[in-house]
Amino acid sequence: MNSQEENNKNDNPLAPVVVKLTNIIAILVVFIIVLLVLFAIYVPAPKQKPVTEVPVPDENGLFTEAAKQTALTQKENEKYWHAPSETSLNDNPKKEEINYGKDLIAHTAEYFGPKGKVYSNATNGMNCQNCHLDAGTKVFGNNYSAVASTYPKFRARSGSIENIYKRVNDCFERSLNGKALDSSSKEMKAIVSYIYWLGKDVKKEVKPEGSGFKDLAFLDRAADPEKGKIVYVEKCQSCHQANGEGMMNGDKTVYTYPPLWGSNSYNDGAGLYRISNFAKFVKYNMPLGVSYNATQLSDEEAWDVAAFVNTQPRPKKDITKDWPNIAEKPIDHPFGPFADGFDEIQHKFGPFKPIKVKREAMKKVKSA
Ligand code: HEC
Ligand code: HEC
Repeated sequence: MNSQEENNKNDNPLAPVVVKLTNIIAILVVFIIVLLVLFAIYVPAPKQKPVTEVPVPDENGLFTEAAKQTALTQKENEKYWHAPSETSLNDNPKKEEINYGKDLIAHTAEYFGPKGKVYSNATNGMNCQNCHLDAGTKVFGNNYSAVASTYPKFRARSGSIENIYKRVNDCFERSLNGKALDSSSKEMKAIVSYIYWLGKDVKKEVKPEGSGFKDLAFLDRAADPEKGKIVYVEKCQSCHQANGEGMMNGDKTVYTYPPLWGSNSYNDGAGLYRISNFAKFVKYNMPLGVSYNATQLSDEEAWDVAAFVNTQPRPKKDITKDWPNIAEKPIDHPFGPFADGFDEIQHKFGPFKPIKVKREAMKKVKSA
């Protein structure tokens, strides 16, 4: 210790007070720091000031996300055909006939089913609507939007020009495995009037977006009935039943769940007996409630369950007169003979890509 310090110590009587004060200040400083740290940890950062940028509308003049979303859905829906509004029927002189036609499509069994009011047991008991969903108005639900605009037309299946009456009767005789209607009957006239009314705003020769079935890509392999059975048990059986024969309502007049095979199902000359039609119908419409923009089955499941269902027993139809020009048979027509050299099995289950490639090559040779 040097003499200077010694002196200070001895000279300053306040020294102990200063020391005490410094200690208190030090404690206070530590205390404040601890407080600040605790504050930083436990108190949330103040909310950022809202950005006061001016919102920019999109090209449709819409500001909020919700409004944009609604506009998008509307745009998407507008792409597709939709049925004329019910109110447009009010001043239609054929209103009654058209409504009768709609009822015949939606509740066919009440008129032609087991206890049919017009003819009983003239069909398998199914409704047209079972396959032409929402009375033939559902987007990609096998709707009738393209019928008025495209018939009469040449159809390769019969090798002749067909009018709407013939086409409607095709479904009566094949899909409903029943009897054709007389084209002058009240019922046939009503069905045709309804179909014309549905397509009244569609230009001649035009097939509106959303008509018929939505496309489904071919698999690289054959569709597999064994795998399809697993899909059926998991996703279809609860409604269509273990025996595939569907379920009728309490008084056995109409199907609550229509049959997929067995004696009351469509016959082997029907459109759904072609595996691609079945797979497309199911992919975009089943299990009940799904639609083209909200599907449940994978592509593989749709093809496989189609293969399973279409290998189960069903009524037969004599279709020897179908496809007079065998080169016109669709790729998945399941009955030979064929012009392309592939066998019935491959035409029934695939793989379809090689058949397609060969057919395109044959066409080129023909036109060269
Ligand atoms: C078991 C299913 C099923 C039932 C039931 C059914 N159809 Fe069909 N129908 C089809 C399929 C599948 C097609 C398309 C076939 C194709 O393109 O090869 C079709 C096609 C049609 C077409 C032509 C559509 C077009 O755009 O060319 C008309 C019209 C039609 N059906 C009317 C009827 C009527 C009327 C009934 C009731 C009497 C009926 N269908 C019952 C499956 C069915
Ligand atoms: C929740 C019940 C339910 C489930 C599950 C269901 N369906 Fe359907 N299915 C129906 C009903 C009901 C109809 C008739 C719709 C109508 O009339 O509007 C129908 C119609 C059909 C049709 C056309 C009519 C016919 O009988 O030929 C096919 C094909 C079909 N379903 C296949 C399937 C397949 C394959 C599955 C499984 C992937 C499935 N369905 C799952 C209730 C169901």
